[in-house]
Amino acid sequence: MITANKLSLRYPDGTLALRDIDLHIDKGEMVFITGPSGSGKTSLLKLLLGMEFPTEGSLTIMGKPMVKGHNKDMRNLRRNIGPVFQEFKLIEGRSSLENVMTGMRFLGSNPKKIKEEAYKALVKVGLEDKIKSKVENLSWGQQQRVAIARAVARKPSIILADEPTGNLDKDNALHILSLLKEFKNNNTTVIITTHATHLIEDVQGVTHLHMDNGSITVERKEIVG
Ligand SMILES: Nc1ncnc2c1ncn2[C@@H]1O[C@H](COP(=O)(O)OP(=O)(O)OP(=O)(O)O)[C@@H](O)[C@H]1O
Ligand SMILES: [Mg+2]
Repeated sequence: MITANKLSLRYPDGTLALRDIDLHIDKGEMVFITGPSGSGKTSLLKLLLGMEFPTEGSLTIMGKPMVKGHNKDMRNLRRNIGPVFQEFKLIEGRSSLENVMTGMRFLGSNPKKIKEEAYKALVKVGLEDKIKSKVENLSWGQQQRVAIARAVARKPSIILADEPTGNLDKDNALHILSLLKEFKNNNTTVIITTHATHLIEDVQGVTHLHMDNGSITVERKEIVG
């Protein structure tokens, strides 16, 4: 479902953020990306999201090459991706429910159906009692869960989460990870970056990629029958 061949990314200022990455990720796989600050984790996710494009090599997602241009393929692809990124902040002044619904507008279903689905997503992340709360009145962990609900409610093929456990204590971080892990069973590919290497040791049946200086230095796939 995701294939990278000799993929490199050089930013306009000359920084080589990713070098010669070869990667294959299957449908339904759950992938943790760890690595020190500046190693290229966010850059890799940005490529997967079409926020950046390969400067060398190739990246193919669901059979479509990721190349620059506002073509229809790219739009369709983006609709299949649920991002949990700091760049896509929640909208302050709006409720949890409204925030989740904002991520779904383009799905084209009727407003009542969208509302129902948004509600279901919030129940799934354990926020049924915060549906009407304005997002700025929620704790950081709760806001992360709203962001996950928003990504999940789009029913994407791929969920991309950049540091979704950042700033959370261990229990809350594990809760977020277990929520994301649930989607693995739905044939959804889940890709998560994290600094919290100690947290993922206990998670079974996942792929672990470790990055250093723009390269993948360790790749461990764990298949659980
Ligand atoms: N827009 C940009 N322009 C130039 N260089 C960039 C840009 N974004 C990131 N970089 C550089 O690319 C490299 C990889 O950055 P990236 O954000 O991918 O690291 P990261 O692994 O996500 O780090 P962190 O753990 O701190 O989030 C770093 O050297 C960074 O300074
Ligand atoms: Mg980062």
